[in-house]
Amino acid sequence: MKRLLGLFVLFVVVPVLVRSLNPPLNEDVLGLIVFKADIEDPEGKLASWNEDDDNPCNWVGLKCNPRSNRVVELHLDGFALNGRLGRGLLQLQFLRKLSLANNNLTGNLSPNNARFENLRVVDLSGNGFHGMIPDDFFRQCGSLRVISLANNKISGKIPESLSSCSSLAAVNLSSNQFSGSLPSGIWSLTGLRSLDLSDNILEGEIAPEVKGMNNLRAVNLGKNRFSGQIPDGIGSCLLLRSVDLSENSFSGNVPATMKKLSLCSTINLRRNLFEGEVPEWIGGMEGLEILDLSGNRFSGPIPSSFGNLQKLKVLNLSGNGLTGSLAESIVPSQNLSAMDLGHGSLTGVLPAWILKLGSQNVLPSDIKRSSLSTTVGKALANLQVLDLSHNAFSGEISPDIGILSSLQVLNLCKNSFVGAIPESIGDLKALVFLDLSENQLNGSIPETLGGDVSLKELRLEKNLLEGAVPNSVGNCSSLVTLDVSENRLTGSIPAELSQLINLQIVDLSTNNLSGALPKQLANLPNLLLFNISHNNLQGELPAGGFFNTISPSSVAGNPSLCGSIVKRSCPGVLPKPIVLNPNSSSDAGSPSLPTTLGHKRIILSISALIAIGAAAVILVGVVAITVINLHVRSSANRPEAAITFSGGDDFSHSPTTDANSGKLVMFSGEPDFSTGAHALLNKDCELGRGGFGAVYQTVLRDGHPVAIKKLTVSSLVKSQEEFEREVKKLGKVRHQNLVALEGYYWTPSLQLLIYEFVSGGSLYKQLHEGLGGNILSWNERFNIILGTAKSLAHLHQMNIIHYNIKSSNVLIDSSGEPKVGDFGLARLLPMLDRYVLSSKIQSALGYMAPEFACKTVKITEKCDVYGFGVLVLEVVTGKRPVEYMEDDVVVLCDMVRRELEEGQVEECIDGRLQRNFPLEEAIPVVKLGLICTSQVPSNRPDMAEVVNILELIRCPSEGQEELG
Ligand SMILES: *[C@@H]1O[C@H](CO)[C@@H](O)[C@H](O)[C@H]1NC(C)=O
Ligand SMILES: *[C@@H]1O[C@H](CO)[C@@H](O)[C@H](O)[C@H]1NC(C)=O
Ligand SMILES: *[C@@H]1O[C@H](CO)[C@@H](O)[C@H](O)[C@H]1NC(C)=O
Ligand SMILES: *[C@@H]1O[C@H](CO)[C@@H](O)[C@H](O)[C@H]1NC(C)=O
Repeated sequence: MKRLLGLFVLFVVVPVLVRSLNPPLNEDVLGLIVFKADIEDPEGKLASWNEDDDNPCNWVGLKCNPRSNRVVELHLDGFALNGRLGRGLLQLQFLRKLSLANNNLTGNLSPNNARFENLRVVDLSGNGFHGMIPDDFFRQCGSLRVISLANNKISGKIPESLSSCSSLAAVNLSSNQFSGSLPSGIWSLTGLRSLDLSDNILEGEIAPEVKGMNNLRAVNLGKNRFSGQIPDGIGSCLLLRSVDLSENSFSGNVPATMKKLSLCSTINLRRNLFEGEVPEWIGGMEGLEILDLSGNRFSGPIPSSFGNLQKLKVLNLSGNGLTGSLAESIVPSQNLSAMDLGHGSLTGVLPAWILKLGSQNVLPSDIKRSSLSTTVGKALANLQVLDLSHNAFSGEISPDIGILSSLQVLNLCKNSFVGAIPESIGDLKALVFLDLSENQLNGSIPETLGGDVSLKELRLEKNLLEGAVPNSVGNCSSLVTLDVSENRLTGSIPAELSQLINLQIVDLSTNNLSGALPKQLANLPNLLLFNISHNNLQGELPAGGFFNTISPSSVAGNPSLCGSIVKRSCPGVLPKPIVLNPNSSSDAGSPSLPTTLGHKRIILSISALIAIGAAAVILVGVVAITVINLHVRSSANRPEAAITFSGGDDFSHSPTTDANSGKLVMFSGEPDFSTGAHALLNKDCELGRGGFGAVYQTVLRDGHPVAIKKLTVSSLVKSQEEFEREVKKLGKVRHQNLVALEGYYWTPSLQLLIYEFVSGGSLYKQLHEGLGGNILSWNERFNIILGTAKSLAHLHQMNIIHYNIKSSNVLIDSSGEPKVGDFGLARLLPMLDRYVLSSKIQSALGYMAPEFACKTVKITEKCDVYGFGVLVLEVVTGKRPVEYMEDDVVVLCDMVRRELEEGQVEECIDGRLQRNFPLEEAIPVVKLGLICTSQVPSNRPDMAEVVNILELIRCPSEGQEELG
């Protein structure tokens, strides 16, 4: 580096001297090394540039002349280079092509860092160059053929000196902040083939000299502030293929001389102030592929000559005042992919060609759809956008619309279409946007709409539609916006809507919808608007999610709705059971229980059920799990056998009446319940409560006991799909020291996890509540520590973090083996949010690793090691992680650490053991616990190491170097 610095000074201070050294160093090496020294190369792309090389010809990104070994081309596109251009490149006297596109270079461009003496191609596009370019920047640019400064932040005028670069063929200054008028000589650059000045803030008129541009093929002045007329001379630029003058303030008529541009394939005049009739002669430009005249002041009809544009792909005439009808005689290109005639005053019925594009005559009506699509389908294969909105079209929408198989956007809104929405609309599998609003469509919304699986936006508002919103809407799984307001729709709101998790805007207002709102709607995570005002909806609003904050105007005008938002109290309703069918697809009988059956009768028909009873806060929701394939057992007829849930935090207080969407899965195969489990779980069977929910005990009919955890974080859990994926993953985890997850039960508002039942109670109870009156022996304690360590090591090996290790989560089975439960539940939360994690785990005071409080530290499996360390100290000392004394708070690990430092560890070992333990085991175990509770995560050992260490402590004969 010293040498480099020396060179740099030498180079900057006395370049002449350098040249006269004969030749100590290749000048190109010097220039490039200086260039490299001025910039940052974060990805080390220039690592091969070594100042000790005799010549740079093997360096990455450059090309030498093989005879002279001088650098002629430098290509460093996309090298992620940062910083400013120094003077280094000026040294490369034989450079012809310089391309530094798409880096992150900044600073001004000036003759001090870029000169064009021999350069032919310069591409500095896609960087962060800014500031003005000095007027003399382009002097001596006689060789320059191609220059691109596109996509920078350069401002000021385009230097006049550009006009002196007489060899220029391509100029691209697009997407900068160039302002002012064009250099006066620019139209004298007769060699120009391509001129792109788009997306700047240039202004002024185009000079009439344009006519000399005999080589010009593409001109793009779009997105500027140019004004005035297009000069007639443009018609003499006979090679022009693409003319883009869009988004300026050009005005007047389009000059008729343009019809001579027979090679032209793109004309884009969008959003200017052009006026007059749409020129008939455009139809003679047979090479046209893109014609965009939208957003001007054109008037009159669409010329019938447009039927000659057989290569046309995009036709946009929208936002003009066009009148007249679409002549039957126009048969536009079979290659058309977008046709936008919106925002005009077009009238009449849709000509057959819109639907049967390419067929010369209307096909006889008795030809079946299938044959139609074979004759016509090919021709239509490309139409993706059809926008005829905001006109005065009338008549019916033909069922033939279904053959536009590529259609993504169909916008017919604000016309006068009548009749029904054709069923064939459901054949448009590619449809993303469908807007038929503000017409006079009647009939019902076709069930087939569910076939439009790509649909994101569905607008049918302000028509005369009747009947119900079809349940099949639930199949449009991409739907974001649904607006069917201001129709005559009846029936209830389909529960299937709650499957559409992308929904943001739902407007069902001003119809005659009735019935209750499906509770599951509260689970829609992305809602921004749910307007049901002015209908006849009844009952209570869904609780939770968006509905907690729904605006009163969105629910107004429904006299029978109740709840706090509409300021009407809901009448008490007798609890009714929900029928949860664990296996609805495989059985035809059970799912269709008549809903008119009374409470008692349904319970009678339930062949087995689990009931979880807990204190009800206000009203009680009653849930029963039905099980199929089993005979009715009359003895099961006990009203109190229904599962009753506490009002809790997540449950609505009124009963849910839908009889669908429950799903029970047992990982061991057949749901055990179907073999006739009959059990009651009530509040007496509550085993405990944790951050994630309460746990109840039950016994299956075959005598197999299970523990059921009711998740109380249901408003936080992920979608069903993600929930099931995570739960299944947890279900695969089997280890003798882990509580096995045997199955789960899902509804959108209720989730149960079914666990192996462990009989001996928790470690917490054994340690601190003297469960059963006996004190754990040292050996039992050691076993518990070792087993717990093994279980965590196993989890970590499977990439699962427990997140919630604590003594109340360690259960002891009848043989004294520890079994760790509640692992991995944080995965069920939508995101591993620190706040949620720490608030869910806050009950586990004292076990929480310090990094939870520190935003910048990543949470890893080492947080479990911390919790484990605390647990070790807890087991050994018999004290809680945090003990509240009269006027003091004692943190266990601090206390133990102090005792260790004072050399009296044995003082802190559980007094109830009455010194009945081997010190040579107890002391290393305490030390291990302290190491595991290191503040810095990386100082804590892995759980696999912990297991090894514990095994060494137990069998000291095999070596005990590590802890003594
Ligand atoms: C570009 O540079 C800026 C500032 O030097 C930096 O913040 C940014 O991350 C860089 N971008 C890339 C893509 O390297
Ligand atoms: C000008 O450069 C921009 C950015 O690199 C590019 O997208 C555009 O196509 C170029 N224009 C022409 C006419 O090549
Ligand atoms: C047609 O032009 C209008 C206005 O310029 C624009 O909003 C619309 O997206 C264009 N249509 C198509 C299909 O590109
Ligand atoms: C339609 O487009 C294809 C491919 O872009 C082209 O080969 C074909 O000639 C076009 N058809 C017409 C009638 O222009």
